[in-house]
Amino acid sequence: MAYDIQRVRSAFPSLAETDSGQARIYFDNPGGTQICQRSIDRMNEYLIRANTNTHGPFRTSMMTDALIHETHAALADFVGAEDPGEIVFGQNMTTITLHLSRSLAHTLKEGDEIVVTRMDHDANISPWLLVARDRGCTVRWIDFDPQTYRHDEASVDAAITDKTRIVAVGYASNAIGTVNDVASIAKKAHAVGALVFVDAVQFAPHFVTDVKAVGCDMLACSPYKFYGPHQGMAWARRDLLESLSPYKVRPADDTLPSRFETGTQSHEGMAATLGAIEHFEWMGQEMGAGGITRRERIVSGFDVMVDYERDLCKHLLDGLLAIPGITVHGLTRDEDLADRVPTVGVVKKGVHPDTLAQRLADANIFTWPGHYYAIEVIERLGLTESGGMLRIGLGQYNTREEVDALLNVLDA
Ligand SMILES: Cc1ncc(COP(=O)(O)O)c(C=O)c1O
Repeated sequence: MAYDIQRVRSAFPSLAETDSGQARIYFDNPGGTQICQRSIDRMNEYLIRANTNTHGPFRTSMMTDALIHETHAALADFVGAEDPGEIVFGQNMTTITLHLSRSLAHTLKEGDEIVVTRMDHDANISPWLLVARDRGCTVRWIDFDPQTYRHDEASVDAAITDKTRIVAVGYASNAIGTVNDVASIAKKAHAVGALVFVDAVQFAPHFVTDVKAVGCDMLACSPYKFYGPHQGMAWARRDLLESLSPYKVRPADDTLPSRFETGTQSHEGMAATLGAIEHFEWMGQEMGAGGITRRERIVSGFDVMVDYERDLCKHLLDGLLAIPGITVHGLTRDEDLADRVPTVGVVKKGVHPDTLAQRLADANIFTWPGHYYAIEVIERLGLTESGGMLRIGLGQYNTREEVDALLNVLDA
């Protein structure tokens, strides 16, 4: 049993797309991955066989209710939770975070403190800055060390005080790729009675998410970053979700998870998200150890993929470091590769990141230049004026040949 890259690639129909005969190379994955066939099939099936609204006495509505429940249960398994009622769907992670933060704001008072980090995507910063503004709270920042690309421990300890009520921290950076020790931050936050909100958007596509091991209170991610549809989701402890006052309309169901899922949701999106989770199960069953439970199958799907992504990331990093004028901003040593996702930010001396991305685009290689909303990271690295970084993000379907094609363009 081993990772079979050609089988994995065959599960993504868009990988066969060409432009004027030229293959596409997708390294834009941190901004959104390609969708797997199971997701597309699930979405089509829903739209053809069960498309309607919820809670009706007729066939399609009962099928819709069943699908919604099944997808919540599958996502609970995906993040290591047990209760489907603890999973909240929404348009995307940003919208859900703004939504939940608005309810959390009402638990805060003037003088309370909120902790955010300089390594986060703005979707896990601005919602909390807005809460602080609305409630008169003080904001404290966790900094990272631009030499080590990890959180500065002293700054973690200084930021969390006995006035801290919420700590918002990213699991993996969408710019420099560092995976953070969120479990240790959660422990420190809980020691002062604060709640912990984890942004797992960039972690979830690459490693097994386990909310119990992290010990957080809330965690959000986005299925379109793990081979599913454009959708977002959050997990939160049931007692916390039940204790909050949701922004909802009066006739809407007040039980979980519905009380936080405002209006009509994307049912076809939920179907497709279920398909993305089934894709990981398929990888586990076909190429890995498999499992009896859905959680076991999901975990085995990740297990069989992790080494492949790490080797590919090493190949990319080795190639980048060998190109004169390239600086990688992130962890590069072999012994640190377990502490990063394969999302690599680089600059090339004398060349604007936009130009690099354009040259790559000319070769049909897709990457992102700029800040990708990680504005604090780019500022901390002193790269704001010079246009940020080029971001190369690997996914489960990328190959060494694709990486070599990128390296050739960057070298030239
Ligand atoms: C780390 C991180 N957090 C949050 C987001 C926002 O996610 P969404 O587009 O689902 O709102 C992104 C999007 O790129 C991200 O990379």
